[in-house]
Amino acid sequence: MTSSDVAATLPQACDFTVFGGTGDLALRKILPALYHRDLEGHLPPDTRIIGVSRSEIDDDGYRAEVRAGLETHLAPEHLDPDAVERLLGRLHHLCLDSGSGEGWHLLHDLLKDRPHADETVRVFYLAVAPRLFGPTCARLAEIDVVDERARVVMEKPIGHDLASAREVNDAVGEVFEERQIFRIDHYLGKESVQNLLVTRFANTFLEPLWSSRWVDHVQITVAETVGVGSRGGYYDHAGALRDMVQNHLLQLLCLVAMEPPTYVGRENVRDEKLKVLQALKPLSPEDVDRDTVRGQYAAGLTAEGPVPSYADDLAGPETAGAPDSWTETFVALKAEVRNWRWAGVPFYLRTGKRMDRRVSEIVVVFKEPPHAMFPGSEGVTTANRLHICVQPDEGMRLHLTAKEPGPGGIRLRPVSLDLSYADAFDQRSPEAYERLLMDVIRGNPTLFMRRDEVEAAWSWVEPVLARWADSPERPRRYPAGTPGPYAAAALLERDGRAWQETDQ
Ligand code: BG6
Repeated sequence: MTSSDVAATLPQACDFTVFGGTGDLALRKILPALYHRDLEGHLPPDTRIIGVSRSEIDDDGYRAEVRAGLETHLAPEHLDPDAVERLLGRLHHLCLDSGSGEGWHLLHDLLKDRPHADETVRVFYLAVAPRLFGPTCARLAEIDVVDERARVVMEKPIGHDLASAREVNDAVGEVFEERQIFRIDHYLGKESVQNLLVTRFANTFLEPLWSSRWVDHVQITVAETVGVGSRGGYYDHAGALRDMVQNHLLQLLCLVAMEPPTYVGRENVRDEKLKVLQALKPLSPEDVDRDTVRGQYAAGLTAEGPVPSYADDLAGPETAGAPDSWTETFVALKAEVRNWRWAGVPFYLRTGKRMDRRVSEIVVVFKEPPHAMFPGSEGVTTANRLHICVQPDEGMRLHLTAKEPGPGGIRLRPVSLDLSYADAFDQRSPEAYERLLMDVIRGNPTLFMRRDEVEAAWSWVEPVLARWADSPERPRRYPAGTPGPYAAAALLERDGRAWQETDQ
């Protein structure tokens, strides 16, 4: 697609307002993503980017902050001086407090006082604490800047549980229609995640195999080597189940398990994902005890050297000693999708911080051949496995069994067919946010979570949260730099299975 094809689907004018405009998310992800799209000539020609924050800086002060952010977060070879100046030229900054009524007239004046104000697409990106989502939208309505072309973008977490998610959705829904609400799950913007849909539905060879008839089980791992860093304040109230499983891992599960939609359109992909979430077997308290594992990292040795425990990471300069937190930084669990295609196939999910490697991967493990027909092959063959690597090395690997070359009988050996996207496509893989922000500007919600999806995911996760809250057992400690607590391995061993690590 050329840049003129892209421009043809775009509005001519866009005012992209970022609440939390000087925050970490804006400087690290949102503005670098807008920069890249601007560099490619994909932003609407008349685009302004309005950073809103409580910082008392003017437009030039904001430009200096954003310039420093781009220089920090973009690879030097991607910094084009003309494109940087072009982006900085689009920037404005307004000092106003999302929580109070002060300063809002400034936003009204800026948005209304421009040529073609009535045809301009207004995007309001809420990169602020979720408790401010509702009040910010209410203020936008008060100052009369929400028209039918306007869009609001919300970052997760959408709520803390089902009830609070409903509250947030209700409050935002008072001002914006569902078609105008874009709930970001940045995993859906990752190239390899979108490619999962293409692999499944633009090819035929997998479809007949993609069910309980031939699939033994599915594993979804999102392992991180980082700790909680400076996000302890948020994280300690969330934990891995809310931070990662309720959204990213369940979305990956949906893409693996969903039925083919009639076409890839704005509602029907989301309809199919919703059906998967609704088919997840509800977990009883006994299921939670048996089929979930929560862990918390202790001090340990990682590739970057010795690192402190989660509790020590939480301890700030003013804290006297490490807090006794029961927040989980690791989750492993077994889920089941109760429908015709998947009944009886376990989906094992696992995610954690401070693990031994950074890898996000889906592994579909096929059944063993029904009969060992090569003499001496009992126990030698391994099941076929399809590894779909989301990051860091995007690609796919299919593990097969082959004959070792040579005379004197047939010796079986595992081999793999590897597809590396970096080798297959000689071009930069865009960051998830680039794709997603352009979809917002174009008004395409396909890759965003609909209200019913978010709420269905909370409904499934809630019994786990409730059981853990009642449990006298604290999360199991695992040393930083390891694959998590032993109980996570035991979860699969009990079923005669094992986690597939990337280099196996
Ligand atoms: C975010 C979580 O949604 O995803 C973080 O809040 C996590 O805790 C991050 O680190 C992982 O994203 P990625 O793209 O680095 O895998």
